[in-house]
Amino acid sequence: MDIQHYQKEFLSYLASKQWVQEPKNLYEPIDYILKLGGKRIRPVLTLMAADIFGSDYKKALPAALAIEVFHNFTLVHDDIMDAAPLRRGKATVHEKWDINTGILSGDAMLILAYKYFENYTPEVFQELAKLFSKTALEVCDGQQLDVDFETRKKVTIDEYLNMICLKTSVLVAAALKMGAIVAESDAKNASLIYDFGLNLGLAFQLQDDYLDTFGDPETFGKQIGGDIIENKKTFLYLKTLEIADKETKKKLKYSYRKKLKDNSLKIEEVTRIYQMNDIPLLIAKEIEKYTEKAFATLEKMDISEANKINLKNFGTWLMKRTV
Ligand code: IPE
Ligand code: MN
Ligand code: MN
Repeated sequence: MDIQHYQKEFLSYLASKQWVQEPKNLYEPIDYILKLGGKRIRPVLTLMAADIFGSDYKKALPAALAIEVFHNFTLVHDDIMDAAPLRRGKATVHEKWDINTGILSGDAMLILAYKYFENYTPEVFQELAKLFSKTALEVCDGQQLDVDFETRKKVTIDEYLNMICLKTSVLVAAALKMGAIVAESDAKNASLIYDFGLNLGLAFQLQDDYLDTFGDPETFGKQIGGDIIENKKTFLYLKTLEIADKETKKKLKYSYRKKLKDNSLKIEEVTRIYQMNDIPLLIAKEIEKYTEKAFATLEKMDISEANKINLKNFGTWLMKRTV
């Protein structure tokens, strides 16, 4: 089954729910962010994994919705933390409403996410909730590190990789494992599909870093250069500090310290430094490395060749994205 099929099934399940109720100011932002679009990567992975491990994938729809609602909650709060004006080409929740609305609607989404587990038997419920709570806390850890790194002088690439693993990969991995849990697959396969997700998630976040600077503003949906404005210690930045000459490093560090009213010059300068140091090529290699690592995990799984190809196609599709 192809990705679009799962996307469609998920979207009609999402649309079948009544999101808006009183008080409207709490629920309208939830309806807004959930229907803004997006790639629906995580719920698709949950459905796909359930299917691969022999369940009717429709059984996984509530779990898929839980993960998508949770993911969107993290985006609402993340956009406040990153002072981001745009998400999926539209105004972020805190821009369209205000910060307090973003905080509380986000909180409500986190709670709503857990409620979808009530659709499962006590055994499955417990396993899902356990994985979900562990994952959600790890995402908080990652988000805090991401913020800490903005103002920390020295950050290593290993520390960066740990941070993106926490803020991004664990949720991708959990999305897949939740499909395995719903399908009641054996522990070995559930753990392998989780590892596949971890590496795919690393590749995904590296790609996100690349697109944040080098993406097409027409299609990317977020403000280009947002990471540069916020002094994010991305792979692009850290790799430059690792390989560039002394003068360039000094220039990059100097540019990054600036907090300006008009950031266009800063973005231009930093982007030029990345380009002159072949950083786009180096990050592409890194993305490929983690994609290959993910694919290597698949080989250890006892699933059909056709399903391995399905998961590989998903990985390849993900890495070719421009949004
Ligand atoms: C977001 O990380 C991670 C979470 C929301 C947990 P980023 O801040 O790098 O992601 P984008 O670029 O805003 O989507
Ligand atoms: Mn962030
Ligand atoms: Mn962000």
